[in-house]
Amino acid sequence: MHLILLGAPGAGKGTQGSHLSDRLGVPKIATGDILRAAVHAGTELGREAKQYMDAGELVPDSVILGLVREALADKAARGGAIFDGFPRNVSQAESLNAILQESERTLDAVVVLDVADEAIVERMSGRRTDPETGQVYHLTHNPPPAEVAERVVQREDDREETVRHRLEVYAAQTAPLIDFYEAAGLPVRRVDGTGSIEQVQERILSALGH
Ligand code: AP5
Repeated sequence: MHLILLGAPGAGKGTQGSHLSDRLGVPKIATGDILRAAVHAGTELGREAKQYMDAGELVPDSVILGLVREALADKAARGGAIFDGFPRNVSQAESLNAILQESERTLDAVVVLDVADEAIVERMSGRRTDPETGQVYHLTHNPPPAEVAERVVQREDDREETVRHRLEVYAAQTAPLIDFYEAAGLPVRRVDGTGSIEQVQERILSALGH
């Protein structure tokens, strides 16, 4: 299965993508995670990406498409993938279609996680990540266990003004993908992204017919 998880920053794509990956047995391809790993490793790509990420802007398509092509070529992704944070604009969506066609693959569905902006700002202020495992927590909704609580960190782009700018970028560049995929005849499933993490997971699985 090739599935796109769409949703504003903080809508829960990463959290739900990890659960879905376990449940459906296909890897998650999360461009934000790949970019953060490159920033952490101090590679040239990471240094280029960091300036855009810290400002809440999209990283140039040329950088992103190379990363996605590489991730899809991995043998673990031969049976499918869950795209988290990609595509981010119509140009990336068109490129994804072309990349999948090269290996005679097609998209199966798009899941859109709906969460209101104010709830998102609250989620982002409490988000913490374990730098060793990449596991994402929330101080209130999904607190880190005691053994990792000391080392969790806040993402640089989770400051409120940057989050608000990322929400604007989402509305202007990424939300139009909902119409794009509907017009292409792909099943686009809108799911309420509020409630507990488990409730949202059940809604997604049921929307996908699982
Ligand atoms: P990226 O990492 O993709 O960030 P994003 O889309 O802004 O999404 P987030 O990771 O912030 O949130 P999420 O939806 O995954 O939510 P999460 O599960 O963590 O991208 C970062 C940057 O990289 C971009 O700004 C851009 O610069 C660049 N980039 C990445 N991909 C790109 C691309 N394709 N093209 C160009 N540039 C690109 O949940 C958020 C919080 O809420 C967590 O604390 C979580 O524990 C909590 N939470 C989750 N679910 C619930 C729930 N049901 N109830 C309460 N709390 C919850």
